[in-house]
Amino acid sequence: MADNPPTDHPADPLVIPFGKATARPDGQRPRVLAIANQKGGVGKTTTAINLGTALAAIGEHVLIIDLDPQGNASTGLGIDRRTRRTSTYDVLIGAAPMREAVVPTAVPQLYIAPSTLDLSGLELEIGQSRDRAFRLRNALSNINNGARSYDFTYVLVDCPPSLNLITVNAMAAADSILVPLQCEFFALEGLSQLLKTVDEVKKTLNPKLSIHGIVLTMYDSRNNLANQVVADVRQFMGRKVYDTVIPRNVRISEAPSYGKPVLVYDLKCVGSEAYLRLATEIIQRERELKAS
Ligand SMILES: Nc1ncnc2c1ncn2[C@@H]1O[C@H](COP(=O)(O)OP(=O)(O)O)[C@@H](O)[C@H]1O
Ligand SMILES: [Mg+2]
Repeated sequence: MADNPPTDHPADPLVIPFGKATARPDGQRPRVLAIANQKGGVGKTTTAINLGTALAAIGEHVLIIDLDPQGNASTGLGIDRRTRRTSTYDVLIGAAPMREAVVPTAVPQLYIAPSTLDLSGLELEIGQSRDRAFRLRNALSNINNGARSYDFTYVLVDCPPSLNLITVNAMAAADSILVPLQCEFFALEGLSQLLKTVDEVKKTLNPKLSIHGIVLTMYDSRNNLANQVVADVRQFMGRKVYDTVIPRNVRISEAPSYGKPVLVYDLKCVGSEAYLRLATEIIQRERELKAS
């Protein structure tokens, strides 16, 4: 699948097809999906930003939690470092409630709890405390309650490229894990280690944790190897792999430097279309889960 030729009219944010809000009844828990893969550069942050935007565009109320000290999800959504007064670090060390860190983005119905570099010191700060793995779960427990409440239907947690205490917090708080996998030769290698960690967390911290799905990212059909990787991953993981494959698309990589999701930067490009399809697929899967 080739990239769309660059258009010189980045889409007007107003053309996003924002649907009818599908807010949960007051106080109901949102679905929490952790976007995890210990490899860097596989599309975690890109997926958090653009899946979050796509879900918001089709009516969900979405909170992205930036748990990477690099703060790329925050920057990519246009949250200036100087304005990050309360960050996920403050929340996880217990210095502030989650709702204090939550800020709106330029996308309607999409909010973010930003991160700062402080987060890289989390392990030193809370590594000895008994509830160290449950800081995020506890911080999210009443996000849809109380005076300054929200009615989030989805929480997407953008994890750092490591299986450290931060990622364990995300997995302990999550209903389900979403794994971005880059279409390259070593894709499957890291996956088994990740699945082992998920199993471990399931046994010890979060018995109801599941793998929501695997999303293949940065797919380039001109690359024969990529096709082989897609076939291998589908054979190995079967139905866990989403039908939607995210193509390598230059618009996706340009958008963060404008502090915009690709759906706002260029709604019509193949990257935006793919993330909208992924959002639809995820909601479909949620319906099937609920029905089963
Ligand atoms: N589908 C895509 N097409 C082109 N570039 C992409 C795509 N997905 C991600 N990228 C780029 O690849 C780099 C790594 O992606 P990122 O989402 O930051 O990975 P991670 O969060 O897993 O480290 C970024 O520069 C991003 O813009
Ligand atoms: Mg990232």
